[in-house]
Amino acid sequence: TKCYHFQKILNGFLLLITSFPWTLVKLLTVSAVLVLSVQVLVRTLIKEPSPVPAEAYRLLSPETYQYLLNQPAACRQRSPFLVFMVPVAPQEAEAREAIRKTWGAPRPDTLTLFYMGLPDSGQVSGFQDMLEEEHRKHADIIQMTFLESYQNLTIKTMMMIKWVVTHCPNASYVMKVDSDNFVNVFYILRWLRSLPRQRFITGSVISDGRPRRDKSKWSLSEEQYPEDSFPPYVSGAGYVFSADLAARISWASRFVPMISLEDVYVGLCLRVLGIRPVYSKATQPLTVTSVMNISLNLCIANKFTKALAWLLYWIAMYCTSVQSTVCTWDLCLKGVTILALL
Ligand SMILES: *[C@@H]1O[C@H](CO)[C@@H](O)[C@H](O)[C@H]1NC(C)=O
Ligand SMILES: *[C@@H]1O[C@H](CO)[C@@H](O)[C@H](O)[C@H]1NC(C)=O
Ligand SMILES: *[C@@H]1O[C@H](CO)[C@@H](O)[C@H](O)[C@H]1NC(C)=O
Repeated sequence: TKCYHFQKILNGFLLLITSFPWTLVKLLTVSAVLVLSVQVLVRTLIKEPSPVPAEAYRLLSPETYQYLLNQPAACRQRSPFLVFMVPVAPQEAEAREAIRKTWGAPRPDTLTLFYMGLPDSGQVSGFQDMLEEEHRKHADIIQMTFLESYQNLTIKTMMMIKWVVTHCPNASYVMKVDSDNFVNVFYILRWLRSLPRQRFITGSVISDGRPRRDKSKWSLSEEQYPEDSFPPYVSGAGYVFSADLAARISWASRFVPMISLEDVYVGLCLRVLGIRPVYSKATQPLTVTSVMNISLNLCIANKFTKALAWLLYWIAMYCTSVQSTVCTWDLCLKGVTILALL
């Protein structure tokens, strides 16, 4: 009977072999091999980002530096719709004053903060006292313990972004804007209401940037940046992003070795995240009445009522003609010249 059972099993096995759909098995095997080899190929072609060595990351990481001046409570009782992060040198008090009186003036939906390092002349005590005075008066200054210099702007940018992550996570949008720019606040606030709230960054996108290999301030050696082009990035003069990106960019910076071009650096972080910056050309110009509204507020603090109203009107006209959200202070100076002639 043992033999009989064996015979039965053998028969069953033979039946299985002859009736089994072998072509299907072959097909499956071939496709499995194909999928595997494509995966291996993709993995070798697209290098997965690897973390920056700890020593190099330390230089860039905001955790390396301490706050000398901070505004930890700036967002404690509120969630601003738009935070203006303005990098500024400690000695540029006049630029801060001009911003506080115009586009950076306190509003219920915006928050304007100035970020700086240590004065390049070292921590001159008298100067630091003046800064602390300004800090007490306006509560809008954030200072960290790295030396203020062009090369350290990337450190500053990552510090500003990290500050938002830590102290203002409920903001809707963040705008990084240089202190020599004029922001068309009315336009930008209206415009942002219709834009995505997640994984979104917009500004003047540069898609064909390449590293300069000469000896200028903007040059990068092949050792610092071996690739011969930059991924798309937004020009550093002024760009806006949804606040969720602050945490994402901070995270991505662990994978991107520091370079001194801060706007390119943010672009490299965006590439790690798979986020493409969106080009924006502002379309709805500032209206004259909204400009008159600002100047009305300024009337109280300023004696220059008429002159300022004219100046702002002039800027508004310029913004309208170039359809831009950002105009440079150069234009204000031209405005002042025109006023002097009037
Ligand atoms: C910042 O820049 C200065 C001069 O360019 C440099 O000496 C300094 O080491 C840099 N880094 C920090 C963290 O201050
Ligand atoms: C942010 O919003 C969440 C929920 O909307 C809230 O629980 C939290 O307290 C807010 N945080 C701050 C810092 O306002
Ligand atoms: C000007 O201010 C008034 C009062 O604050 C406001 O109702 C009006 O909407 C403002 N106009 C513009 C164009 O912003």
